[in-house]
Amino acid sequence: MSAIRLAFANQKGGVGKTTLAVHTALALAKRGDKVLFVDLDPQGNGTRFLSKRVLTETPAEGAGYTRAVELFAPLESITPWPGVDGVALIWAGRNDRALNDKGEVPLAECVHPAANLAAVSEDYDWILIDTPPTLNKLQLSALLASTHVVCPVKLSGFGLDGVQGLIETIQDVKKVGNSGLTFVGVILNQEATRSRNYARDVEELKGQIGDLVFSQGLAQRRPIDEACSLSKPIWRIYTGAARPAAKEMLGVIDELIGRIGRGA
Ligand SMILES: Nc1ncnc2c1ncn2[C@@H]1O[C@H](COP(=O)(O)OP(=O)(O)O)[C@@H](O)[C@H]1O
Ligand SMILES: [Mg+2]
Repeated sequence: MSAIRLAFANQKGGVGKTTLAVHTALALAKRGDKVLFVDLDPQGNGTRFLSKRVLTETPAEGAGYTRAVELFAPLESITPWPGVDGVALIWAGRNDRALNDKGEVPLAECVHPAANLAAVSEDYDWILIDTPPTLNKLQLSALLASTHVVCPVKLSGFGLDGVQGLIETIQDVKKVGNSGLTFVGVILNQEATRSRNYARDVEELKGQIGDLVFSQGLAQRRPIDEACSLSKPIWRIYTGAARPAAKEMLGVIDELIGRIGRGA
């Protein structure tokens, strides 16, 4: 079976794209699925988390393994960094300038990642794609290469503008180049459940997109931040406070897998 190719997208930063993408990758690998993680974010945070180091073009590190920037030209073959914890990786450097430059490439180059990843689709159950916090050609390339897209969202005082922009982008991509793209939904992250405005914003969002809002969200919990700085999944942080966070994280991932319809 061909891999589900799932992008984590939102043109805003700090909403949990990378956090959710790496946790989903590790959870899927843990249950025995074959997972490839593609780091299309020039910040390289997903690469750092999954490799537990900063990869560079030196022989002991990333050299010889396919870098995300290389996906923007036709490739004969792909050699992912083999990964730890069962997740293979198409890596980005730390503040990867070459990858960052791909944010401005001509439209014609944006189809190469899709073709290159389609060619290895039979080798994996899942190809998860992390994307930059910008509406640019990297984000577009990720959406063209995906079968599914999920949007982590942090509702803020600025309300729902970001979500609407994102939905329009997805609709545009479906129209112009990837009619098969499925919008899996919106994951609410760092929920301010105690604020009255927050409840109103969630209701407004549900009024706009209905069931596309995940029923399981994530509260703001410090151990998640700690997990990210230690490059460990939240379920491997053994403090009392981490437990509810891990439960929510696994709940979100279960709902995500369930919505896509590819169970264990
Ligand atoms: N639910 C949460 N509770 C606490 N911290 C979180 C939560 N979700 C994400 N974070 C932290 O917020 C920061 C930004 O998250 P990140 O996943 O990098 O966002 P993005 O990839 O969308 O820019 C990270 O330091 C991460 O650890
Ligand atoms: Mg990120």
